[in-house]
Amino acid sequence: MTALPSQTPADPAAVDQLLSRLSLEQKIGQMIQAERMAITPDEVAEYHIGSILSGGGSAPGANQPADWIAMNDAYWAASMREGPGRVPIPLVYGVDAIHGHTNVLGATVFPHNIGLGATNDPSLIERIARATALEILATGVDWTFAPTLAVVQDPRWGRTYESFSDDPALVARYAAPYVRGLQDGGSDAGVIACAKHWVGDGGTTDGNDQGNTVLSEAELERVHMTPYRPAIEAGVLTVMASFNSWNGEKCHGHRYLLTDVLKGRLGFDGFIISDWDGVEYLDEDLGVAIERCVNAGVDMLMISVEWKRYIELLLASVRAGRIPMARIDDAVRRILSVKQRCGLLSRVRPAERTTATPGVLGAPAHRALAREAVRASLVLLQHDKQILPLAPSARVLVAGRNADNRGHQCGGFTVAWQGTNGNDQIIGGTSIWEGIQAQTPHAEFSLDGDAADATRHDVAIVVIGERPYAEGMGDIRPDRKVAPGSSPAGRTAQLAPYGQSLVNAELHPDDLATIQRIQARGVPVVAVMISGRPLRVDAELAHTAAFVAAWLPGSEGQGVADVLFGAAPFSGTLPMPWPHGDGVWPRGYGLR
Ligand code: BGC
Repeated sequence: MTALPSQTPADPAAVDQLLSRLSLEQKIGQMIQAERMAITPDEVAEYHIGSILSGGGSAPGANQPADWIAMNDAYWAASMREGPGRVPIPLVYGVDAIHGHTNVLGATVFPHNIGLGATNDPSLIERIARATALEILATGVDWTFAPTLAVVQDPRWGRTYESFSDDPALVARYAAPYVRGLQDGGSDAGVIACAKHWVGDGGTTDGNDQGNTVLSEAELERVHMTPYRPAIEAGVLTVMASFNSWNGEKCHGHRYLLTDVLKGRLGFDGFIISDWDGVEYLDEDLGVAIERCVNAGVDMLMISVEWKRYIELLLASVRAGRIPMARIDDAVRRILSVKQRCGLLSRVRPAERTTATPGVLGAPAHRALAREAVRASLVLLQHDKQILPLAPSARVLVAGRNADNRGHQCGGFTVAWQGTNGNDQIIGGTSIWEGIQAQTPHAEFSLDGDAADATRHDVAIVVIGERPYAEGMGDIRPDRKVAPGSSPAGRTAQLAPYGQSLVNAELHPDDLATIQRIQARGVPVVAVMISGRPLRVDAELAHTAAFVAAWLPGSEGQGVADVLFGAAPFSGTLPMPWPHGDGVWPRGYGLR
């Protein structure tokens, strides 16, 4: 039986042999990950670059699978070029496939993590990760920056939807199946997983992205480190350092957390990658920042643009003895053994891989799986008059800003970093309105509900909620400022937050207006909410007969319609508490 890649031990002798042939310049090159827009294949060869990434939404050519394969093939060939002073080592290409391979047009878009948390089903997670791995491989890519193992503690955090739950135990239950699904596809069919962001990303003060997590070590371990143990046991090959600080000290420069705890106590033997220019938060002097970061234990540096400057500074620091050669050797040994363990060293060029098959992207079986996940993720919060499920014969009015908007239902990190608006860029799949049309011939669409008429409509489905956002632009910050001690040199302070309160009627007053308009005409309303987190919806609840939390379901809006019309039951439960009225629906709540 072929050993599973994540369980294949590195061959230390072979890795050491490879390492011993590398010059300092080649070793430093392996430690660099540049963004694709800032680097050419010739530069990959010249500087011995170890890795390239696509930042959120960064895509080659017309963003078709064939464009991705061609790009990967060119970079790979450059990394394998023979020549004097060159040891060919395949580069590894990384993407944010955090809910499907969603940078690419036509990919299957799975629900974001918060919705998967509502399904409470680890076996579903493994199947989704496997399907995602196949779509990634279909484009010649080998590495995804997933799973996010954040344990969100405050829904004001703009990355709440990237977290499965506020419960460390639930996140931990998903960690190993997610890693196995990505990595263990057999000798040629695994991708490298990346558990992120180490550590405490979900615990920052006031939920500020990239902020400061103020906690005792015991609590940091109990809440935020817990999911990493099963991920490491499952063989996760990489971990990403987090932008946040722990008690005022940035994780990117935290030797105790990176080296003593993660690599030491937890026994993580893969490599640590920094987050997007995360090095630069450590010191205004880039050379000093790089030294702190690498000496603290980061092995590969993710760089948006200035990778050449990083190389110069790294070389200078090593030559001056400010970064010990042993640290460089350790970093490169880790990088090479990951490349070896995932089978990369023996893979043929991307264009010739049997897995690089464009048709796998958005394959019917993957879309069916995503639809199944959507069905399982819906949480019925309120259900007054036993109005659900709807009969196929019901005369339905469909309304609301998010009813016919595949972009909105996919959320951030879909085609573009901040997501997209409308149906045009989500190729394939169905909006919720399109899904409803497939369930019943008696449906009419009216964006603001103005067509509501009790003589013609038995019920209205109103789809409300958030528009897409990612990272700090999803934060809710009452005074628009970040909490003291947060992100001193980070980007968050410069990013406009999503809003100032968690009350949907304040964020999106038109939702309530649409619901009230329809209700006032005597048509009962079923509200479906698209959101990356619990929002206060007391005003909307007061005017609706049923209220469904649909999270960010992704491309397969059909799954929402399936449940509304009874083709599948409501089975999802809250992955985190949802405040309402004077109380709160606890985690685990969900009507049947
Ligand atoms: C995010 C990471 C992501 C990286 C690469 C950063 O801004 O924090 O989660 O993997 O960008 O796109």
